Amino acid sequence: MILCGLVSRMSAQIPVDIHTEIDLSSHAADISKGMYGVFFEEINHAGEGGLYGELLQNRSFEDSQFPVGYKVEDGKLVSSIATNYGTGRQSQVHLKWNDTVCPGWNLETKGKAKANIKLTNEDPYFNTAPTSLCIDVHSKGDGVSLINNGFWGIAVQKNATYRIRAIVKSGKSQILVLRLINDEGKTIGKSKLKIKGNSHWIDQECMIKATASSSNARFSVDIPSEGKIYLDYVSLFPTDTYKKRKNGMRKDVALMIDSLKPKFLRWPGGCVVEGITLNNRIKWKETLGDPASRPGEYDLWGYRNSYGYGYHEFLDFCEDLEAKAMFVCNVGMACTGQTGETCSDEDAKAYIQDALDAIEYAIGDTTTLWGKRRANEGHPKPYPLQFVEIGNENFGPIYDRRYNMFYQAIKAKYPELTLISNYGMDGSKEAKQIEMVDPHWYVEPERFFRDAYIFDNFPRNKYKFYVGEYSCNDGVGSGNILAALSEAAFLTGCERNGDIVKMLSYAPLFEHKHDRSWPVNLIWISNDKVMGRSSYYVQKMFSQNLPSYNLISKVEISPETLHEQQADDGYIMLKTLDNNTEYKNLTVNGKENSDKKYGEGTVIEFDLKRNKESKGLTLYWGMIQHDLKKALALNIGHKEHFATVDHMSWNNAYPYLNKEVDSITSNEWHHVKFTILYDGFSYSVDGKEQWKYQTPLVNRKFLAAGYDTNKQEVVVKVVNAKDTPCSASFHFTNGKIANKAILTTLKAIHKTDENTFEQPRLIYPYEDVVDNISEQFNYTFEPNSVNILRVKCRH
Ligand code: AHR
Repeated sequence: MILCGLVSRMSAQIPVDIHTEIDLSSHAADISKGMYGVFFEEINHAGEGGLYGELLQNRSFEDSQFPVGYKVEDGKLVSSIATNYGTGRQSQVHLKWNDTVCPGWNLETKGKAKANIKLTNEDPYFNTAPTSLCIDVHSKGDGVSLINNGFWGIAVQKNATYRIRAIVKSGKSQILVLRLINDEGKTIGKSKLKIKGNSHWIDQECMIKATASSSNARFSVDIPSEGKIYLDYVSLFPTDTYKKRKNGMRKDVALMIDSLKPKFLRWPGGCVVEGITLNNRIKWKETLGDPASRPGEYDLWGYRNSYGYGYHEFLDFCEDLEAKAMFVCNVGMACTGQTGETCSDEDAKAYIQDALDAIEYAIGDTTTLWGKRRANEGHPKPYPLQFVEIGNENFGPIYDRRYNMFYQAIKAKYPELTLISNYGMDGSKEAKQIEMVDPHWYVEPERFFRDAYIFDNFPRNKYKFYVGEYSCNDGVGSGNILAALSEAAFLTGCERNGDIVKMLSYAPLFEHKHDRSWPVNLIWISNDKVMGRSSYYVQKMFSQNLPSYNLISKVEISPETLHEQQADDGYIMLKTLDNNTEYKNLTVNGKENSDKKYGEGTVIEFDLKRNKESKGLTLYWGMIQHDLKKALALNIGHKEHFATVDHMSWNNAYPYLNKEVDSITSNEWHHVKFTILYDGFSYSVDGKEQWKYQTPLVNRKFLAAGYDTNKQEVVVKVVNAKDTPCSASFHFTNGKIANKAILTTLKAIHKTDENTFEQPRLIYPYEDVVDNISEQFNYTFEPNSVNILRVKCRH
């Protein structure tokens, strides 16, 4: 039991911020050994140009292919149209598209050379990846080269060797020269590839050694002869990958994950599981086999997934990391933030079979169809698959039915697996059996400080939690120490409730320096560098200092403000949620709405009418831009008479305030008045205040204590999210502690401090010894710090 009491600042005689009494002989909730894991999704070039070792972009020349039914219009990729299961409306989305002839590659001609390039599907080497590039050299002049710039440049290291694989066809025998070129145009590596001129595809490998380092090299295929030459696949791969796997991971990037010692790894996502439309979902079967035969898929985050880091590589990676595998399956539902396409329950049976096949591939006997395929791919032993998540962020009655269908089918065949529902805290009423749910938190710091206690009173007999995606990503720059402090606060609550919170994974995991599709990400990658934000070190500190169980602790902490409370300044917007709702006479501060930012004291008024089918209206305020990357959203006028406030972040809505009764009735006009207050809001209907909200004070200091049975140590975690030092008084009862503790601290001077590529270790954990302690002692922790105190103990 943790007691978080309010100590009145006025009456407190002792200048101590945290009073704690820790019972060394107690044994509160156990903490799962598998608590901390890793969530991988192909977003922000996490894999392509990131974790996955391939150095060339568009090696297979498939990047210009798009899903069947899509088109390119005005430089955008336009999806096919589907009915969105979330909104019930027809939906079509416009996405980022690279409209060059052959993305990643360009032709360079010197002197009087003349040549052109064209993509073709004729005479494919692999029918599954049919596109190849035809280079037609009309006149060789002073040289024709096909250049690949990698992913914003190629990083090579002096004396390192790289494996080249090329699938080439030519009518003329010739020797291609393959070169690495640095950004001054100098050749820093050279290799040759002999081609027989018999017009048959040849599939060859050779090595290239870099004679100098460069973080911005290019790869050149020099073509000496006139005539046509075809390239189906050209790959450049480091030989020194993580665990030396041939189709493996970039070593420095994989080591960042390795040093988190994750207990599980989730794949393939995220929204990419669902797809823009169903035919755009990740199809794990197509990720198997020879990398050159994999078709890849347009990734809903705006670039192509080559499928190089596929299901088999993911399972290998789990094995290398000694982590359990978590596979997320599509339930016949596309991402509702995209088209939200669904299929019929009948057609969903194929998706169930697909999930069963995936499981069979990972753990089935080698006599089974997919188990045999695994063995043929070189891995007869089963992989450590333990978790299957049914869907990703799907919801509503269709999901409920699908969940039940998938759960029954998978559980009947694989009772040993843990099945996870993609629902959040509330689970779903229609689901027959839920073992575990996956609530997501992408929130501002304040929310994590509050939610550090969210699990304390959750019923113990319902289901377990896998917090599959969480990060503080709102109002924290690119991810500063304030974000890390709030996440650490939240984690103290998760560990304290280890009996129900079983697993956690921060998301998203990676961001390439040149592609940020999500506001804040854990690990940053450039071509030759990889660095962790302060949140990364929080993950590492918590996963490396995981107690076996909690100790009963009485903790007294005073709630307080983090900084001056402020009204939420920003643009305002009204939006009806369907055709059953209308509004008129909108004024802001008595005038017709104008396009400027509003804050404290602003009064928004309008008349609202809805019928009994209505989903209501949303009033957004505090929008930092004219979009929903950050805003608060009051939902009113719902047919079921409730009002809620959501927090909008990056177009996603996260419940912020609980439901209140809403008195708007059907088929008559009501006058609505909404006032933005200094630290909240007031909402009235027809002159009567319905809901007044003032942001309460919450804790800014957090403590969790547990016992590590292996090391026989007490582990105390203290988070101080204030700019001032935090003094704590410790009283250990019913046991003895050693007189020396090891303290690991992560801290920053300012809340806005962040690690950057220039200063990757500005915020970095360091260790200290704390001497002369006894069962009762005081200690003062640094401002803006996360601390882990370990001390030997006997009880
Ligand atoms: O992590 C980024 C995205 O956030 C995931 O794809 C999705 O599951 C969530 O909305």
